[in-house]
Amino acid sequence: MTEIRYPFLDLATVNAPYIDEIKAALARVADSGRYVGGDEVARFEDNIRNLIGASCAIGVSNGLDALRMILRGYMELGRLRPGDGVIVPSNTYIASVLAITDCGLSPIFVDPSVESFNLNADGVAKALNENNAKALMTVHLYGRVAWDADLKRLAGDNGLIVIEDNAQAIGAVAPVEGMTAGSRMTGSLGHAAAFSFYPTKNIGALGDAGAVATSDPELAAAVRALANYGSDTRYHNIYRGWNCRLDPVQAAVLNVKLPYVAVENGYRRGIAATYGCEITNPLVVKPVFVDDDSMVWHQYVVMSPRRDELQRYLRACGVATDIHYPTPIHRQPCYETYSGLSLPVADKISKEALSLPVSRCTSIDDARAIARIINRFE
Ligand SMILES: Cc1ncc(COP(=O)(O)O)c(C=O)c1O
Repeated sequence: MTEIRYPFLDLATVNAPYIDEIKAALARVADSGRYVGGDEVARFEDNIRNLIGASCAIGVSNGLDALRMILRGYMELGRLRPGDGVIVPSNTYIASVLAITDCGLSPIFVDPSVESFNLNADGVAKALNENNAKALMTVHLYGRVAWDADLKRLAGDNGLIVIEDNAQAIGAVAPVEGMTAGSRMTGSLGHAAAFSFYPTKNIGALGDAGAVATSDPELAAAVRALANYGSDTRYHNIYRGWNCRLDPVQAAVLNVKLPYVAVENGYRRGIAATYGCEITNPLVVKPVFVDDDSMVWHQYVVMSPRRDELQRYLRACGVATDIHYPTPIHRQPCYETYSGLSLPVADKISKEALSLPVSRCTSIDDARAIARIINRFE
């Protein structure tokens, strides 16, 4: 088999620029004697608040738990009830939907726009007419902001709770303000947001990590309690909560990396711009390129009706690729109850989408070489 010359992702390379600082931070935690909570977690929460401009942030165990605790928090506060509908894009990563069903809420799947891979107001408006929707989970998939003036108006007019799944888009900036005046960065657009720092994310930990951000102090207090066995004060449990706290080891790693969000996203933008200019093969549909902060290129996803052939060809030429995601949620065995839904865009994306390398493991010269290889595909 041909050697992989252009890897999709190698996390040691991704972390190499920060590794000395990371090791020093890990040693600090080891020496501190404080292995749950503590200064690193508090500093991480400040860093998230300052980055996005929300008034509250809570470090949590991972992105799925962040979403689950937001939804459970709204239920504990009586703002969502069992069975309420939550609009969610049909092509998201399964964690978005797992959080909804785990809380006893009902996912309302909406096909995205095939150009942006994201929800738009037309799709959401149709779903609103047919269902008992109380919340909108907007997912900034592949790092592209899923928020505009129409979605904002629709959510406002219909009193929807807006939850952002910001697992893939840290540092992205929306073209219009969020539900709160002045906020433009993803994670501060809706009423609450979930972050993931899974190692492959634009800013990744050395294991699982996540955060919840919100400017709603009641929700923040509920999430903080839920993440800590449901206790508001020691040994006093107001909810049947979980243990979903952020580990200070991961907080320390993230405190090293968070100041570099713009640098990391800028690096990805350079690769995406190179692909955008240099891929010219009509058999390959490129993602819409925007040269601003509304896209942070968590993935660079091309579409081709001959995707599997293209992937095999690239592999034979030494280029590793990935698929996000090969099976839509309504076709997963665990969601068989939704298998009768007609979601043609989700089906199309699952068959045609191919993610090209777009991390620090890829240089601009590599991106040019990969584009030339793609242009020879026939
Ligand atoms: C869109 C989306 N939502 C939620 C998650 C869940 O995050 P985590 O893996 O940290 O649980 C992920 C990442 O894996 C994701 O990509």
